[in-house]
Amino acid sequence: MKRLLLLNISLLFAGSVFSKNEPDKELLDKARQFFSPLPKSFPSKENPITPQKVELGRLLFFERRLSVNDMISCSTCHAIEYYYSSPAPKQMGALKLQPRHAPTVLNSAGQFVQHWIGNRKDVEDQALQSLTGPPALGNPSKESVEEKLKSIPQYVELFKKAFPKDKEPITAENIAKAIGAFERTLVTPSRFDEFLKGDTKALTQEEKRGLKTFIEVGCVACHNGSLVGGTMYQKFGIYEPYWKYTKSESIDEGRYAVTKKEEDKYVFKVPPLRNVAMTPPYFHDGSVKTLEEAVWIMGKVQLGKDLSKEQVKDIVAFLRSLTGDIPKEARKPPILPP
Ligand code: HEC
Ligand code: HEC
Repeated sequence: MKRLLLLNISLLFAGSVFSKNEPDKELLDKARQFFSPLPKSFPSKENPITPQKVELGRLLFFERRLSVNDMISCSTCHAIEYYYSSPAPKQMGALKLQPRHAPTVLNSAGQFVQHWIGNRKDVEDQALQSLTGPPALGNPSKESVEEKLKSIPQYVELFKKAFPKDKEPITAENIAKAIGAFERTLVTPSRFDEFLKGDTKALTQEEKRGLKTFIEVGCVACHNGSLVGGTMYQKFGIYEPYWKYTKSESIDEGRYAVTKKEEDKYVFKVPPLRNVAMTPPYFHDGSVKTLEEAVWIMGKVQLGKDLSKEQVKDIVAFLRSLTGDIPKEARKPPILPP
């Protein structure tokens, strides 16, 4: 129900809203109804961001000794070179193939839930469960990772500094908190944020046409907020089954796996579109290689519209303007404790 309501709201904005006078100003006003600039970080009451936690979390994110076989780290699948995502549709974990495509962790802490089907509450919950998941780091128990880190003197010191009140600072929960704090700083502002703050020259004419089209055809009904997504669940394939166009080999039932409710079949989290031009392949199964194709398929299955070549080109130009700068500290892998 909520789903349809949102789509209807978007239709109200279709067509006549943009007049010829001051088109930039009107586009800006309209855009501000749906989007807001990125914050400096994504704070959490339960896990306050401190420099000590962030620095430790950064090391742990790249630490292969966090996995059962010392072979993979978070950064194996969320690689700097690929804007903290993976070029493989599905990547091999420590013990098992991942079920879905690895999204970028840049800005991901700002979403309402984590994972394509929302089965992780926040980045800390996500990191904690990654430690023992066979398709992730594959440790047999939380204790086994804790023991391993306790044998590395520099980590003993770093955990003490990051969690000064804890008698025993090296715990799986604190590993997750440190990594979570690091992820909460991975914010990538782009020219789109300059535009939203009032600099209408920050986007090119083509990008502005794309933004206008993105609003008018109704993409904003689902992709909105400061991340241009990550605010709600929606069915993938409202007008037609998604696999008709993605040619997906296996059909993923989406949130149905979590709730077992019929209405959640093929429902996924609407993904953020920040940096989307840098993180192919697309969709939960990485079934689509190009952004052009992904955009056209969205028009078809989510809006029942056959977008023209021009419309797709403009929207893709707008989406490229969402490519932001990775924070300086996160542009290079760290040197790890011996
Ligand atoms: C073997 C590959 C692999 C490894 C290793 C891995 N991830 Fe992931 N990550 C994925 C995949 C695949 C998903 C999507 C899973 C899903 O939605 O079902 C994901 C999802 C996420 C998300 C949610 C992003 C979003 O937009 O919903 C975060 C955050 C994340 N991983 C962080 C981490 C951290 C932190 C570690 C290390 C502790 C880690 N990952 C290790 C592949 C991996
Ligand atoms: C009714 C809600 C809805 C509408 C409208 C919608 N989307 Fe989506 N979008 C989604 C969902 C849900 C997904 C995730 C699909 C999946 O499971 O892979 C998605 C995925 C995407 C992706 C792939 C992102 C990635 O990282 O793989 C792109 C790109 C995208 N949408 C762009 C658009 C554009 C452009 C429009 C307008 C033409 C649009 N969307 C309209 C809900 C919507």
